[in-house]
Amino acid sequence: VNVDDLPTPALVVDIDALDRNLATMADLRPGDALRPHVKAHKCTALAARQAGVGHRRFTCATPREVAGMVGAGVGDDLLLANEVLDPMRLGALAALQDEARITIAVDSTEAVRAAADAGLREVVIDVLVGLPRCGCPPEDAPALADLARQRGMAVRGVMGYEGHLMMLDDTAEQAVRVAEVTRTLREVHGRVGGELITTGGTGTFHLHPTAVEGVYYEVQAGSYALMDSHYAGASLPFEQACWVVGTVISVADRWAVADVGLKALGMDHGNPPVVDGTPWFYSDEHVTFGATPLPQAGERVRVQPAHVDPTMAMHDAAWVVSGDEVVDRWAIDLRGW
Ligand SMILES: Cc1ncc(COP(=O)(O)O)c(C=O)c1O
Repeated sequence: VNVDDLPTPALVVDIDALDRNLATMADLRPGDALRPHVKAHKCTALAARQAGVGHRRFTCATPREVAGMVGAGVGDDLLLANEVLDPMRLGALAALQDEARITIAVDSTEAVRAAADAGLREVVIDVLVGLPRCGCPPEDAPALADLARQRGMAVRGVMGYEGHLMMLDDTAEQAVRVAEVTRTLREVHGRVGGELITTGGTGTFHLHPTAVEGVYYEVQAGSYALMDSHYAGASLPFEQACWVVGTVISVADRWAVADVGLKALGMDHGNPPVVDGTPWFYSDEHVTFGATPLPQAGERVRVQPAHVDPTMAMHDAAWVVSGDEVVDRWAIDLRGW
């Protein structure tokens, strides 16, 4: 099957570009120095490929991602890098602990108690490092760790996600501010204990140390595998490896319309670029774009996702291509919560 024969909109993954991205990262942060974040692709087949280049530990954002990874038997150490307070979902995670090592992030006494009540065995203390989202103030971390241990759980270390530093234009300032995050996490880790410091993402992976004596210092990057136009704006050694392919369904005198709309694309990072065209606007099932020359009805167009994570979450499956040949179909099987 050729990519031009796929029903559209079609999410395609360029296997050769993907493999180059995985190899580049595995070279720079080998093995346990990277804990790939599966929320960026939500695909156990892709996670298995990350395991194939040496990463055994994975990061998840939802209970569903953890359960799906356990079900697929990918990874032997799964971190839910997010707070969960729902007793039912925590109980479901606890029931999986005989099949896989599961660790959950906690940032409050409520979250610690909920995890302990559900029977979870291992936590990391999530520390606020500047992004106004989850994480406790650094000074509260030791008491949370004590409470977790009193409740019979092991504390594996500390986590801090510096999402606000992923895309700083001033790379010198970015390096200074990421070094501050590292300092904070090392200082808090010294008071909390455990063997892990877990942090970082695609925009900062190169600014974190790979080895710190006495701990696993791991980066939770996810977008690096498939990339998007947002991260393409940073100077990173990764290339675009996924696209949404559409069909031109209507052509006017100054614009063309393809069947790739905002229900097939994450839109929170602005308009996804159209290859060889200029998007005018997106609507539910359409992109209206200009191009010179304009394509004809029936021709194919490629759209570059602007934000890979929500784009992947909108598709059932990814068509895996090598050049123009479709070589596989991967289920996007970690969707939902
Ligand atoms: C907790 C956490 N860790 C790591 C990441 C890194 O993701 P990315 O590779 O997209 O920078 C994210 C992304 O939002 C995140 O929420």
